[in-house]
Amino acid sequence: MDQQVRERAGSLNVTRLSEPAGAEVVGIDLSLQLGTKKRDILFEALLKHHVLVIRDQDLTPDQQMTLTAMFGKPESHVFHDAEGQSGPQVHVVNNLDKQGNPSSRPTTFGSFFWHTDKSYHEVPSLATFLHARELPPGGGGDTEFANMYNAYESLDDAVKKQIANLRAVHSWEANRRNTGNRAATEEEKKLRPPVSHPLVRTHPDTKRKALYIGIHADCIEGLEREQGIELLKKLYRHSTERKNVYAHSWKPGDLVIWDNRCLLHRVVGNYDMDTHRRILHRSVVIGTKPC
Ligand code: OGA
Ligand code: MN
Repeated sequence: MDQQVRERAGSLNVTRLSEPAGAEVVGIDLSLQLGTKKRDILFEALLKHHVLVIRDQDLTPDQQMTLTAMFGKPESHVFHDAEGQSGPQVHVVNNLDKQGNPSSRPTTFGSFFWHTDKSYHEVPSLATFLHARELPPGGGGDTEFANMYNAYESLDDAVKKQIANLRAVHSWEANRRNTGNRAATEEEKKLRPPVSHPLVRTHPDTKRKALYIGIHADCIEGLEREQGIELLKKLYRHSTERKNVYAHSWKPGDLVIWDNRCLLHRVVGNYDMDTHRRILHRSVVIGTKPC
């Protein structure tokens, strides 16, 4: 990091964590009702730093949902919970298998691949809120974030020109296939048909251009399939170079908020997944159609 950025935003301290993304916000108890003034400060900080880290929080699922709803419309989860509910609520991210034991082959593992949340939907996620409840004792299970503004801006002019009007097809089916998960069922395919999004999207709040790709992207409209896949691979490699990545090392109580409109993210299995539990509470606000 070439500079340490610290600022006082109202009564909150915001400290930059790395060049590509991330800032720690100190001086806030998120279990208390957040006023609109503090909400605005946090949202401004999110636009500027893309990932916000707020440590030492202890939120009930209801408190997390109240916080989430301050930032937009809560999004429903694609999976049903144990009670069969699928509404907008806090759901659990974990590394457990069907029997509930820690596993290196947990029931879902799509998040081990670079992605942006719900890009297989016409209207994908705006921001994701992840609250660490139980973590591997020796650390690990980091979440990595790649800055997609930087990724776009650092492309050669020729590539910028080449991709300016291209659209990628994103789908649940591709997600299942590309991540080695069980194949999408016919019912799931009907429920979540493929959608196309521009490769370069303009962030609706900052008006900056960002690359919009990820593991749910399958091919490029108008290009031969193989050619599209090659182009996507090249863009991933470029976007996720280490210099463009903030890796978050979790501590219990961390609440991390990220902006899906200008980042790719993934979880890293850098801990003994077969032994230790990693449990986080997740909630999301829905965004707008990328354009
Ligand atoms: C997510 C996700 C990563 C993690 O919740 O959308 O990708 O670190 N999680 O568990
Ligand atoms: Mn995700």
